[in-house]
Amino acid sequence: MTVFNKKSKIQDHISNKKGDNFTIGFVPTMGALHDGHLSLVNKALEENDICVVSIFVNPTQFDNPEDLKKYPRTLEKDVLLLKTVSPNILVYAPAVEDIYEQKAVAEHFTFDGLEHEMEGKFRDGHFNGVGTIVKRLFEIVKPNKAYFGEKDFQQLAIIKKLVEKHNIPVIVEGCTIYREKSGLAYSSRNERLKPDYKAAAPFIFKILNTAKEQFGTKSAKEVTEWVEKQFNNHDLLKLEYFVIADSKTLKPVKRKSKSKTYRAFIAVYADDIRLIDNIALN
Ligand code: PAF
Repeated sequence: MTVFNKKSKIQDHISNKKGDNFTIGFVPTMGALHDGHLSLVNKALEENDICVVSIFVNPTQFDNPEDLKKYPRTLEKDVLLLKTVSPNILVYAPAVEDIYEQKAVAEHFTFDGLEHEMEGKFRDGHFNGVGTIVKRLFEIVKPNKAYFGEKDFQQLAIIKKLVEKHNIPVIVEGCTIYREKSGLAYSSRNERLKPDYKAAAPFIFKILNTAKEQFGTKSAKEVTEWVEKQFNNHDLLKLEYFVIADSKTLKPVKRKSKSKTYRAFIAVYADDIRLIDNIALN
């Protein structure tokens, strides 16, 4: 397994391989790898000759400097973990200057309104940062397929839109949410949860499941009010938003239609750690 820090070096390596008709599966990450990431890596290895994993904490997608500072950086541990998975993995772990050269600033994108819903309302500029880094990484790695978890369902929809709008020749695959035994969705942020918050956090998935059951017979408004009440009564978890939205447009549902699919999206603070999750409702 090789680790590259410079885009010129990984580009040279990849262009030699591509000459041999190799297919490349790509898993972009910000490191602090966990089983959820490994499930994406394994899928990429099943479907391609090699898997490129990028490890880069992208500064332009953080609206909160404290969050960027505290984001776990565990490169050595991540590389050791990937070594146990397969020799057919290349790691690209650049410094900020290799991606942004002079100054780390995001480009401006429009994603047909997807960027204004949910996370877009609470994390200013976040999706411009995501669009910037993912587009640059796609240009460097030139993957045949790229793999993203559905935990960040809105991010996945936005990356599909990015690829469509910019005619980027890559297949974007969404992968089902990988959960801990407790039901808590895997996230690099889970590492930072203090024990009592870690014990409380599976409540989020429990609520999503009950919301799904209720959505069969109740309106989106009724379900939303019920969820908000559950969190009002909770000592440790603070609800930031719960939204039932159309899975395609991500617009909040006003009136249910049988021909559409819906998802419930949630963001919760456990102490100062922000957790997101979602569930398909029909
Ligand atoms: O989901 C993530 O970890 C990041 O947003 C991504 C896609 C690696 C871009 O920095």
